[in-house]
Amino acid sequence: MKVSYKTAMPKDKSYLKVAFAKGSRTELIQKGSQKVLTLGYAKDKELDLRKLRLMIRQAVVEAKKAKIKKVALLLSELRSLASELNDVELGEMLAKEITLAAYEFRTYKSKPKEGFNDVTEVAVVASGKDKVTKELRDGVSFGLVVGEEVTRARELSNIPGGEMTPELLAKAAKSAAKEAGEIKVTIFDEKRLAKEGMGAILGVGKGSEAPPRLIMMEYQGGAKDDRPIVLVGKGITYDSGGINMKPSKGGSLNEMHMDMSGGAAVIATMAAVSKLGLQQNVIGFVPAAENMVDGASYRPGDIVKSYSGKTIEIGNTDAEGRVVMADALSYAAQFNPSLVIDVATLTGAALVALGEEASAIFTKDGGLVVQTMELGEMTGDYVWPLPLWDEFDVEVKSNIADVTNSSKKHPYGGASAAAAFLKQFTTDYAKDCSWMHIDMAPTMAAKSDEFLSPGAKGAPVHLLVRLIEEN
Ligand code: BES
Ligand code: ZN
Ligand code: ZN
Repeated sequence: MKVSYKTAMPKDKSYLKVAFAKGSRTELIQKGSQKVLTLGYAKDKELDLRKLRLMIRQAVVEAKKAKIKKVALLLSELRSLASELNDVELGEMLAKEITLAAYEFRTYKSKPKEGFNDVTEVAVVASGKDKVTKELRDGVSFGLVVGEEVTRARELSNIPGGEMTPELLAKAAKSAAKEAGEIKVTIFDEKRLAKEGMGAILGVGKGSEAPPRLIMMEYQGGAKDDRPIVLVGKGITYDSGGINMKPSKGGSLNEMHMDMSGGAAVIATMAAVSKLGLQQNVIGFVPAAENMVDGASYRPGDIVKSYSGKTIEIGNTDAEGRVVMADALSYAAQFNPSLVIDVATLTGAALVALGEEASAIFTKDGGLVVQTMELGEMTGDYVWPLPLWDEFDVEVKSNIADVTNSSKKHPYGGASAAAAFLKQFTTDYAKDCSWMHIDMAPTMAAKSDEFLSPGAKGAPVHLLVRLIEEN
């Protein structure tokens, strides 16, 4: 995607001219040789940032449908509709949203004779007194990088499970690092995992032909002894549920290649942070395994020993995400992080609670909740807090091991029960280190009405980048 700057509205038909119109309906009309898209919005309501973001995506989607490769938008309209944004924020939002709207998962599609309909350029038109500021350009450059990395996360998640094993995810992390520069990647193979005592990751991975990995990515943008921010992303490359297999009907078997979306978000965020040259130290971990059904699979009732030394009873093999996350979360303690954020497609219960509207966040740091919600609105990676109360700790009590991954003592509150389990593996962090868990199951896949192509959505890469920048 390219953003160009013009001082007058291009008149030729290679551009789709876009006009926002209050109280009018949305329509595509032919004006002379040029097509014009009117994006209408309600007369009686303020157009908020959430709506504007969708309309910008819609402009790109309509251009694709009309087989037009370039889109032209008036800067004056954008500025007046996004009056709460400064130029940096406006540029960042615009550049990222057009990149997201342009993406389609085509890796396995044959190219049609006439080629795919792509939008390759968006022109920002500053006519008359309007000026393209340095701030706007900086925002656009930032947003294009973020957009590129959100696209990486979506692409990795969209690749079918058979083609995206833990080993291949590790390879993808390496090539992301190589492209971004400044990132050191270390891969723990099954031998190293065993040597480290990471019985949780190994346990989940036992049933797969494709052995598990722990991916570690280190970026040093700050001083050598600055405490790092640690990211941990769930990397289940396919989740069949294991012996507690997911049902065919009404289940999510066909979507479970996206169960490494948290891991993909971490890999993409690391690449973005490096490309943007953020001045922090950041370490990303992706515990990667495939949860399969096999004679060698871990069983309900099995007990695995985690890196922390705590033993985990497997109450349910389908609650595998929290098990692999346990090893990575406790491994992170030795780096003395100032902040740990984990992101995982962890529970169906989070989806039940929030629909597909927002990721659930869990943290005891109230300031971090406010900051994350604000940045969620700014980035479009919407979040909503759910409780991390100690009352949920009863859910992890086991009769035969230190903790259980699923007790189902109570039938409700599964997202908080999962968070309570993860919390058991954060006890070695320094007192002043905040930890936040993001359950992104609700935002794993794009909704049909948000002008994104079907499949992975790439949440919450933009949010993570901004959180790192501000912490
Ligand atoms: N990967 C799933 C959660 C999920 C479901 C993500 C749907 C995205 C869409 C997770 O591993 C899982 O299966 N969780 C179980 C936990 C239960 C067995 C305690 C769930 O939510 O049902
Ligand atoms: Zn599962
Ligand atoms: Zn899962």
